[in-house]
Amino acid sequence: MELFLKAKDATIYSYSPYSNFKVGCAIELKNGKFICGTNIENISYGLSMCAERVTIFKAISEGYDKDDIKAMAVYAETKDFVRPCGACLQVLSELLNRDCKIYLLNKNLESKEVTIEDLLPMGFNSLE
Ligand code: THU
Repeated sequence: MELFLKAKDATIYSYSPYSNFKVGCAIELKNGKFICGTNIENISYGLSMCAERVTIFKAISEGYDKDDIKAMAVYAETKDFVRPCGACLQVLSELLNRDCKIYLLNKNLESKEVTIEDLLPMGFNSLE
């Protein structure tokens, strides 16, 4: 699937000199376009940003919203499927539709299809 290759290719630009762990993410929009991102680390480790948040923030800041998003894929060169961290799940749970397809990939581009509902079923989502 083209989306999977885009997620893998996004790791080319990973800035991860501290962990040497490259993560790529791609969003497929309903208009056929793709938005890609990768993790960007910092010498002050806590300021590092995951690929998933880079990518969703790119999409939102280019004027797209959850209804424009068809699917997301996340890639890492791992044996098992990569799993987004808790911070990314919280952000994605607000910016993706509950049923948006999220493909977690491994190094062989095998995929596990999930939704944010699967990954964060009881996330914080209301101030009332
Ligand atoms: N990372 C991501 O970009 N996405 C994930 O799903 C897991 C972790 C990044 C953060 C950090 O740059 C590196 O991977 C190691 O934790």
